[in-house]
Amino acid sequence: MTVELDFSHVRRRARSLDVGRAVLEDHERALVIESWRGRMVMEYSSARVFGDLVGQAMRAGISPRVVADIARMASEEIEHGELCAEVLVNLDADPVASAPELLPPAAPHDDASPKVAFLRNVLSIGCASETVAVALVEGERAIALTPDLERVLTRILKDEIGHARLGWSSLRRAAADLGRAELDEVERYLPSLFEHQIRHYGPLAALPRTTERARRAGAPDGRAQHAIFWETLETVIVPGLEGAGLAATRALERALERALPRAS
Ligand SMILES: [Fe+2]
Ligand SMILES: [Fe+2]
Repeated sequence: MTVELDFSHVRRRARSLDVGRAVLEDHERALVIESWRGRMVMEYSSARVFGDLVGQAMRAGISPRVVADIARMASEEIEHGELCAEVLVNLDADPVASAPELLPPAAPHDDASPKVAFLRNVLSIGCASETVAVALVEGERAIALTPDLERVLTRILKDEIGHARLGWSSLRRAAADLGRAELDEVERYLPSLFEHQIRHYGPLAALPRTTERARRAGAPDGRAQHAIFWETLETVIVPGLEGAGLAATRALERALERALPRAS
């Protein structure tokens, strides 16, 4: 089902930002606009995932303080969508997008207890997706074409760091509170978690190269982003999960067998 997203409300309060409009060639601007539109959809879509997580956290009896944090993260993702819309307006583009689909809802994990279901999703969202997002946004921020673009990315990065920390702090608490049987149930989910990540980020490697100026204004640098994904997975996510007592290295090996089957 296609969802029509219209962020035109940002026009009323959109700041005048230098996002490189004056220096981009038309073909570069088209790529940059496409990228910020895609990002607007993804950011907005992430709010849905945190919205689902609010309900799961409440069912799992998670502290209301943490539930409030998660609810705030949902609104931060909508604000990120609005920041992308503001960049689009400053590129002389309409802040609208036709999204074939939004991100799927957080998995219900009906086979597991509410605590295990919550932890599985918080690992997938915080320890995996948001941790990768931190590395990717930091990479973009480091090469931002203009100070205004750098400021937009800095604002997004600050929030994504908080979203990643939710995952790692929840994991730390769970490692102390849950019994081994429940941690085993969390661990059983890790191959699917990694397989999803590998399939999600894999296509980045095949994206065509664009100009350096377009990349610095927000067009994807697929090969660099794919490399950042793998580096984050292998040097941050897997060791972090292992440190909490989860057999993440073995789970990644199983995910690779599923996602990248060897030719027989
Ligand atoms: Fe975000
Ligand atoms: Fe986020």
